Amino acid sequence: MSIDGMDTHAAAPAWQAMARFERVDFLVPDDVVYLNAASHGPRLARVQQAARRALDAGTTPWRLDMDAWHASIEDVRRGAAGHLDGDADGIALVPSVAYGLSLAARNLPLAADETVLVLAGQFPSNLLPWQQRCRDVGARLEQVARPVDADGRPGDWSDAVVDAIARAPHLRIAALPQVHWHDGSRLDLDRIAAATHARGAALVLDLSQSLGALPADIVRWRPDFVASVGHKWLLGAYGLAYLWASPAWRERGVALEQHWIAREAATVFDSPPSPPPLARGARRFDAGGVAEPQRLAMSAAAFSQLRDWGLERVHAGLQARGRCLREALRAQGLGEWLAAAPGAHFLGLRPPPERLAGAAAALDRAGVIHTARGSVLRLAPHLHVDDAALAAVAALLARSGG
Ligand SMILES: Cc1ncc(COP(=O)(O)O)c(C=O)c1O
Repeated sequence: MSIDGMDTHAAAPAWQAMARFERVDFLVPDDVVYLNAASHGPRLARVQQAARRALDAGTTPWRLDMDAWHASIEDVRRGAAGHLDGDADGIALVPSVAYGLSLAARNLPLAADETVLVLAGQFPSNLLPWQQRCRDVGARLEQVARPVDADGRPGDWSDAVVDAIARAPHLRIAALPQVHWHDGSRLDLDRIAAATHARGAALVLDLSQSLGALPADIVRWRPDFVASVGHKWLLGAYGLAYLWASPAWRERGVALEQHWIAREAATVFDSPPSPPPLARGARRFDAGGVAEPQRLAMSAAAFSQLRDWGLERVHAGLQARGRCLREALRAQGLGEWLAAAPGAHFLGLRPPPERLAGAAAALDRAGVIHTARGSVLRLAPHLHVDDAALAAVAALLARSGG
């Protein structure tokens, strides 16, 4: 791959060789610099093969083996649990984060005049369910504003969130991410979870922009519900997301729909006079239609690839990508484009207004796939992108001012 003649695949850095991350494991063509894993993870070769096999298997539905299908559902549940607390009983398969968090919003107690806390600019799937629920019961929705530093650059969320948690009147629920989807800015969930529990409030997390890229310390954070998509940093299929429920909610939570997959299988097809018992653990929340063989196969393949690489190595490798990009931008004199607060594995660049259009156009011209939202250019590399490619992108941006 080359950007304006620069070789973007120079010698692989040591961490990459050590962890055996192979660019060949990803199906990203050489002429594309794909920096959009925060929208959709790059396709793994192993995932593509699994998808093809599942599609082919669909041509012979008469050979569909129900036991194997059930086993593949449990395999995916275990795969998702491996990124959380390891307990497959805690995982429900759902079509989207909005579905999972609508279920959380429906179950968590909330009364008039109590407060639900979210971040300003939070992703709609972790906002709309709370807006609706607050409206239904007459509760307050508080959106924590992003702090800015003395130079007007966006600062660190965590102090502002901890402070808002302490002050919010009748705080009942804090519904937060680990990483803000706009720019990768990270929240200190150790502190935030402790502050939330100190108020006796429930914690709900959307880990869509961090699961697969950062460890999730569920035992320490003690959330009520956690949701994540499967198609970003978990590298799996679109339309197969995960809802983790705390042990208490696995016992008493109410599902959003009445689908047979969430009931004990023994009698559900025998037209019992009353609904058969709910399936064990968070399986009671499994959504109908989600456990589709191709999506299951793709997600299982992604989990197996991540396991083979080693989750700690993947986390370290992605942090190194973010660090490398920040350093390359600073080396090009673009440090001012970065948020003041330390970022995570992806970045939201804020060029000065007069440089924004030129920077976005330069990225587009060079085939650097990114997301432009308002005044922010989001660059989200996965492990297929090496140091040289990131340095070339930073150099390209530095030249984009003309
Ligand atoms: C933070 C965050 N949450 C959730 C989602 C997706 O939500 P849903 O599965 O409801 O479309 C995204 C992106 O697509 C996201 O960035």
